[in-house]
Amino acid sequence: LEQGCLSIVVLGASGDLAKKKTFPALYHLFEQGFLQSGEVHIFGYARSNLSDDGLRERIRGYLKGASSEEHISEFLQLIKYVSGSYDSGEGFDNLNKEISEYEKSNESGSSRRLFYLALPPSVYPSVCKMIRTYCMNPTSRAGWTRVIVEKPFGKDLDTSEELSSQLGELFEEDQLYRIDHYLGKELVQNLLVLRFANRLFLPLWNRDNVDNIQIVFREDFGTEGRGGYFDQYGIIRDIIQNHLLQVFCLVAMEKPVSLKPEHIRDEKVKVLQSVNPIKDEEVVLGQYEGYKDDPTVPDDSNTPTFASVVLRVHNERWEGVPFILKAGKALNSRKAEIRVQFKDVPGDIFRCKKQGRNEFVIRLQPSESMYMKLTVKKPGLEMATEQSELDLSYGMRYQTVKIPEAYERLILDTIRGDQQHFVRRDELKAAWQIFTPLLHDIDAGKLKTVPYQPGSRGPKEADELSEKVGYMQTHGYIWIPPTLK
Ligand code: BG6
Repeated sequence: LEQGCLSIVVLGASGDLAKKKTFPALYHLFEQGFLQSGEVHIFGYARSNLSDDGLRERIRGYLKGASSEEHISEFLQLIKYVSGSYDSGEGFDNLNKEISEYEKSNESGSSRRLFYLALPPSVYPSVCKMIRTYCMNPTSRAGWTRVIVEKPFGKDLDTSEELSSQLGELFEEDQLYRIDHYLGKELVQNLLVLRFANRLFLPLWNRDNVDNIQIVFREDFGTEGRGGYFDQYGIIRDIIQNHLLQVFCLVAMEKPVSLKPEHIRDEKVKVLQSVNPIKDEEVVLGQYEGYKDDPTVPDDSNTPTFASVVLRVHNERWEGVPFILKAGKALNSRKAEIRVQFKDVPGDIFRCKKQGRNEFVIRLQPSESMYMKLTVKKPGLEMATEQSELDLSYGMRYQTVKIPEAYERLILDTIRGDQQHFVRRDELKAAWQIFTPLLHDIDAGKLKTVPYQPGSRGPKEADELSEKVGYMQTHGYIWIPPTLK
């Protein structure tokens, strides 16, 4: 059911995530006509005592659109504030009354209810219980109730499984949308098309041709303002076990039977289950100098703000090919990319100079692009070679297209009932199975973080690890993203 009365409830409405991501995403959907006045109502729910206008003004500051103030005000008028606690029946009973009242005033007779939990995970079970008890869509009306939850989904396999069973008792799997916003990024969504709609890649995407694959996330700022949260989790839980592992799945999985969400998710689970246990000697952990200056971080913290972890896939396609998953905060740049490095050319005849390897790079952000590093004849009279590239930079090729924000796309998917880009319960479990032993060793202090300079590439040990498992850096070559003249 895609039409009719739609209520979107943002729980944790005055928090950071809601202000920075959820409401702006809703606004962009509104701006593009996906949420229509008369059909949609948005409810913000939180504990603080706020008026409708109080909440609207808070949100206004985060809405930077191309459109007019008028449009923004029109959107803000759709928002109503309901205050209440996260574990009391009273608040949720109130919320339900507000929603029902709006539904009664709407002629469609339907009831679609979307709950977005922009909350700390500790309150998920109680909030879900409250929704289940007080706020489900009435069976007398056509419609549905769906719940979007955000990571962290637990801290390890056991806590995650516990959370999953608690939620599983309250909602069916097709009502639960576990969001991983990396799955909403344009170039992540492009991966299946790239791999399975291009003859060129089919015969190359395997151990016969690929030497190693890197999936890298860098940020050029530290844990500013959220050190307390971060210290409980660390970079592996914050970035690698979810975002980078999701990307890994799409790069490494087999071709799904069809594009049906369950077919795709079946393949993701399979490749996760094929990952070997991580070896200690294939892990480098770092912590940037100054991280512990944050008063909310304990002085003896061993929490990694950087990690490089090699995954090995035990299957016919990937045996022997290292997947290097690397993420760090407070580094020298902000970017996320996938690098597929091919093997050396056998029987190379251009011996005068060591050839660089072919490398296919998918830049997820910023400046979305894909480029393939090639060896070409250096243009001119001499027979010399050099490194160049085939370049598909989105900013150049798709000049008039505005690439949607990840959250925008994923919320729209939820309204449409498409779970393809959401994490299924068994997928989450398989992801925790891979990282839990390592995380327990880190938490127990068996593996130590090494310090690195903020603004650097991270610990040199990480570069050494990449080189040891086969990554070859092409010296003297830098890809310069083309700019519009
Ligand atoms: C979040 C992490 O999930 O992703 C943050 O908790 C991180 O630590 C953020 O900064 C990065 O997202 P993006 O879309 O900016 O790459």
